[in-house]
Amino acid sequence: MDILTPNHLDAYHGDEFMKRERGMSSEPRELRFIAVAGNIGAGKSTLVEFLERRFQIKPFYEPNDSNPYLKDFYSDMRRWAFQSQVYFLASKFKIHQDIVQSAQTVVQDRTIYEDAEIFVENLYRSRILPKRDYLTYRSMYENIVAMLPPPDLLIYLRCSVKAVRKRIRLRGRPEEQEIKLNYLKRLHGLYEDWFERYDRSPALVVDTEQLDYVHDMVHRIDLIERIEKIMRGEADR
Ligand SMILES: Nc1ncnc2c1ncn2[C@@H]1O[C@H](COP(=O)(O)OP(=O)(O)OP(=O)(O)O)[C@@H](O)[C@H]1O
Ligand SMILES: [Mg+2]
Repeated sequence: MDILTPNHLDAYHGDEFMKRERGMSSEPRELRFIAVAGNIGAGKSTLVEFLERRFQIKPFYEPNDSNPYLKDFYSDMRRWAFQSQVYFLASKFKIHQDIVQSAQTVVQDRTIYEDAEIFVENLYRSRILPKRDYLTYRSMYENIVAMLPPPDLLIYLRCSVKAVRKRIRLRGRPEEQEIKLNYLKRLHGLYEDWFERYDRSPALVVDTEQLDYVHDMVHRIDLIERIEKIMRGEADR
């Protein structure tokens, strides 16, 4: 894969992609580690598969090995929220380190940042995670993250709550059908706030609501062309 520098991103303009000023350094930077972030059903795994197929980038999906605390968590959230989140943090820490050590270009489906900034934040604000547990978690998270090199590029998939809800219904995973509208709304708000603050790396927004690269051939070609341009560093000047 070609090397992508911030200058290439800098030159890119488009409705679906948006350059982020913060996090752009003037030093050229190799694009080895791409991270994909976004709400439940926003299309992360779909984009990761797509990048893998199209550009032979090594994917790191969200682990589906079961969190040994999850069952307890669902039966008594306050009691088990901390343990289950520490498990997720440890697991994401390991994945992040594996990614950083990988010799290939990689793409990660959901980052360590999202666990803390979206999901743990939501548990705390919903009064499920007690304050002292939240503060202990944050201190652990902040120290871990300070040691980890950030991705070279973050792709944030933005999608309205209405659209993710529709996709969750269409995707039809039985365990997801009970997800409450309010929960998705809270996550969406936390995602938007987090992305606004995000300055660890250059970042792009893909509006997956406008760009239906799953069902629409024209959109798919459009997305491929846009990504290929970025990959080759030939974004419109
Ligand atoms: N750009 C898009 N336009 C329309 N539908 C899409 C788009 N991207 C993904 N979808 C569809 O939305 C559904 C959810 O996509 P996907 O599983 O990739 O989301 P996800 O972000 O990985 O979700 P999760 O957080 O649950 O892992 C799938 O049925 C997928 O086909
Ligand atoms: Mg997924």
